[in-house]
Amino acid sequence: MTRLVFLFNLVVITFLLSESSLGNAATCTDCFVPSRAAHYPNSDDNGTETGRCGYGTFGATINGGHVSAASDLYRDGVGCGACYQVRCTNGNYCSDKGVNIVITDHGSSDRTDFILSRRAYGQMAQNADAAASLLAFGVVDIEYRRVPCSYPNKNITIKIDENSNYPHYLAFVIWYQQGIKDITAVQLCETQSYVCKLLDRSYGAVWTTTSPPSGPLSVRMLLSDENGDDTWVVPVNDIPQNWKAGDTYDSGVQVIIA
Ligand SMILES: *[C@@H]1O[C@H](CO)[C@@H](O)[C@H](O)[C@H]1NC(C)=O
Ligand SMILES: *[C@@H]1O[C@H](CO)[C@@H](O)[C@H](O)[C@H]1NC(C)=O
Repeated sequence: MTRLVFLFNLVVITFLLSESSLGNAATCTDCFVPSRAAHYPNSDDNGTETGRCGYGTFGATINGGHVSAASDLYRDGVGCGACYQVRCTNGNYCSDKGVNIVITDHGSSDRTDFILSRRAYGQMAQNADAAASLLAFGVVDIEYRRVPCSYPNKNITIKIDENSNYPHYLAFVIWYQQGIKDITAVQLCETQSYVCKLLDRSYGAVWTTTSPPSGPLSVRMLLSDENGDDTWVVPVNDIPQNWKAGDTYDSGVQVIIA
């Protein structure tokens, strides 16, 4: 029951924040920033399975394969899972909408902010012919802005990393990060005692702890935006006592994007 109240608060808080941000147009959070984007050199249309965020194969295909490496926007891993609208600016080839991508990797190339998957890069074009031309350029001028991530019908999901070693060492990544905030801290809580332990960001989107508590575990995530508004997300579902390396666990919560 307490958890349902938490969830309800989260929805309300998210709604209030988005309302108040309407009055903040002067800070120009919706403005596009000029930059450049390249595409991965490989022939695969999706992203890389060895992206620095630590998402593995998931990081290559999430968001329909519309993924990207970021340079400065990687922010030591805090930028992993953040979504951006990226549109190229050459009116002969580029659409107005561009493409919405999610960051799954770190990298830069020739003064770029993004190295897009070929699928995402081509998606910025008006049509297939234009996409072929854009790909041939290799690097294009773009503009970008942060946008909320949206995964309809997906809850935030905990993927236990293959390198975990039950019960001594627990590492996991968070799938389907939603909304426009960053995950800036993660707590692992015992569900009986409510004793919580703050985890370390090992690298990218990977959170780890040695000697994790025993028993069912609750993974709480702190979502933060650039204005310092913080919200703890409390999952509905726990990670079971006998968690397994490689398994995924549905948190049962979505971040409602108002
Ligand atoms: C690329 O990603 C798409 C969308 O997720 C998926 O349907 C497709 O199977 C992927 N292709 C490869 C080669 O992994
Ligand atoms: C998300 O979690 C809710 C419980 O909070 C559950 O009813 C729903 O089926 C879950 N959605 C998916 C797609 O797993």
